[in-house]
Amino acid sequence: MSRTVYVNGSYLPEEDAKVSVFDRGFLFADGVYEVSTVLEGRLIDNDAHLVRLQRSLNELQMGSPVSMDEIVEIQNELIKRNGLKEGGLYLQVTRGAADRDFAFPKDTTPTLVMFTQEKNLLNSPAAERGISVISVEDIRWGRRDIKTVGLLAPALAKQAAVVAGVDDAWLYEDGYVTEGSSNNAYIITKAGTIVTRNLGNEILHGITRRAVLSLANEADMEVEERAFTLAEAADAAEAFVTSATTFVTPVVSLDGKAIGDGKPGPLAKRLRQLYIEQALAS
Ligand code: PDD
Repeated sequence: MSRTVYVNGSYLPEEDAKVSVFDRGFLFADGVYEVSTVLEGRLIDNDAHLVRLQRSLNELQMGSPVSMDEIVEIQNELIKRNGLKEGGLYLQVTRGAADRDFAFPKDTTPTLVMFTQEKNLLNSPAAERGISVISVEDIRWGRRDIKTVGLLAPALAKQAAVVAGVDDAWLYEDGYVTEGSSNNAYIITKAGTIVTRNLGNEILHGITRRAVLSLANEADMEVEERAFTLAEAADAAEAFVTSATTFVTPVVSLDGKAIGDGKPGPLAKRLRQLYIEQALAS
């Protein structure tokens, strides 16, 4: 069945939802996006996603065609119109359509697009069995903290993972893991410390990361926010990734070598459970 998609003020069947060939999102990847989780028909941690959206817009000196409050109304209307119970809500703002020129156009109205994606998030086979990853060099630009639609490098990394017959890629730079291709990356040392890259321009400041680190602190787990090497990851007791669409998903092998005993680890499983409980109660 055709979805209803939102484009610049209109709710349209997906076949009729169109943007201009001159849209700067299309020509320059001059746009930003967010993916919010939907569980039981409700948006999860959406305020935090919109704070990050506003930050991405500010960093690129880009406006939004509607206010953040109106964005929430459109998100909820789209969830209703599509009867979405579980999945993701994708939202994209671009600088808009203008004749092709690198510098910013004047007086262009930003483009706003939203669509829903139905997905089994709670009962995920990947989370049950754990995922396998390969390491891929991080060739992305220097402002990964801005959630732009320039996603060719992660698309290449994911494709390399598909060709290698694994689930995903962990990106590394100067020997240190930055993050997953579309998620934040964590290891748990043999001493039981959760280690994840510290915030900076090198990684996206994950909304799920923030929620999960706060749950880990509440549960008295040790957390260290610092860079870790691929060698440390290979030697870890457990590993996992977090994102709006995967919550906490255990990683069970890296570059063909099992992490820990090659099965989802107890701490990763506990964090997934804690995250889901909190999301459902919110
Ligand atoms: N990706 N790092 C990168 C590079 C990401 O693309 C994402 C999210 C994350 C996790 O952020 P959050 O917890 O806020 O979802 C980290 C989304 C889901 C995507 O591109 O589909």
